[in-house]
Amino acid sequence: MIIGVPKEIMQGEKRVSATPETVSKLVKDGATVLIEKSAGEGSFYNNEEYKAAGAEIVDDVAEIYQRADVILKVKEPIFNSEKNVHEVDMMHEGQYLITFLHPAAPANHEMIKNMAAKGVIGLTLDGVPRISRAQNMDALTSMSTCAGYKGMLLAVNELSKFTPQIFTAVGMIKPAEVYVIGSGVGGLQAIATAKRLGAVVYASDIRPDAAEQAMSLGAKVIDTTVPADIAVGKGGYANALPEEWLIKEREAIKDTVSKMDIVFLGALVPGMTAPILLTEEMVKSMAPGSVIVDISIDQGGNCAITDPGEVVVKHDVTIIGIKNIPGMLPTSSTWMFANNVYNLVKYLTKDGKIALDRSDEIVASILVTIDGEIVHEGTKKAMNL
Ligand code: NAI
Repeated sequence: MIIGVPKEIMQGEKRVSATPETVSKLVKDGATVLIEKSAGEGSFYNNEEYKAAGAEIVDDVAEIYQRADVILKVKEPIFNSEKNVHEVDMMHEGQYLITFLHPAAPANHEMIKNMAAKGVIGLTLDGVPRISRAQNMDALTSMSTCAGYKGMLLAVNELSKFTPQIFTAVGMIKPAEVYVIGSGVGGLQAIATAKRLGAVVYASDIRPDAAEQAMSLGAKVIDTTVPADIAVGKGGYANALPEEWLIKEREAIKDTVSKMDIVFLGALVPGMTAPILLTEEMVKSMAPGSVIVDISIDQGGNCAITDPGEVVVKHDVTIIGIKNIPGMLPTSSTWMFANNVYNLVKYLTKDGKIALDRSDEIVASILVTIDGEIVHEGTKKAMNL
């Protein structure tokens, strides 16, 4: 099996889908690995290290797309302006593509249709189910871990105050107060990071399990007043709340929000737009100089006035809406991502080749295109197919 690793071409993307360590494991498993020259440089992995691990370094990405049976990428295919060709148009029938395809997002519909038309077999990492046997393949969880940690650091960095309690000759400086709303994977990592920095941490989540985990990390839990039977749905995931309950939730948290130095927003219901938990009025109630970081921005954001991709000051509050936070931590995010992808490839490989068992839960939830067709339920629904 020939595995190809192109350099990522999305602007600012520093991650890469394989490290020298995972290349070495793939080679040991019997694969040939082609790495585009300099593909690892954004994450500080150089050509020599890949070569030492057993990879072949290839100058021209078109050769990788032509020769590989399987392409591993971080980001969905886009137009390659240097080559003047879309990445999908360099791919061929029966070739596997493993990456974050975000296939339900309207911006990707045309690209997904072209993949199907070309006969490419698309497997999307954002479809990996959160079940225990898929944990080591769950790149989304890895990336949320990065976003929680780095997102909290971004907020702390914007704050005009110390975060820990500091004793000085002129008196004591109080620790910063931090409120994490949505204590899933990203939120829990944000809580842990803020605690390590010495902040006083508060947290809320509509799922009682998530609130309990926040508490076990040392956060003081603020009750959202949303009853569990309304908050928790199928498989233990959060439900999208009806507007009447969102109004009640905002009412329950607004007093705490107004007193905070940092509000970290990481509330999400899978496959849905993010719930608006902070209104403009609530931002106005915060003290000048306080900071909001809204990591749910890819799904629209949890704050009504976050600007996607920007850091802005509104009503004297800094609001961080940076996208691709894991890309700001490229060495660690690449290391986690590459290992997740390696575990997935290994899981899918039988006798040296990828063999898809479509009755398997993991395969069924990641498979997007095969045999010229779009087969992913969420995508078909989003495309009205
Ligand atoms: P998760 O599903 O583990 O956590 C989301 C939490 O929000 C859940 O615990 C859920 O119960 C909670 N929630 C849902 N509705 C709520 C409500 N009304 N009030 C309070 N809590 C509510 O998700 P994960 O993996 O932590 O991701 C969180 C967000 O971070 C997502 O929007 C994800 O796309 C984003 N993310 C952003 C990145 C970036 O670079 N900006 C990178 C990685 C993830």
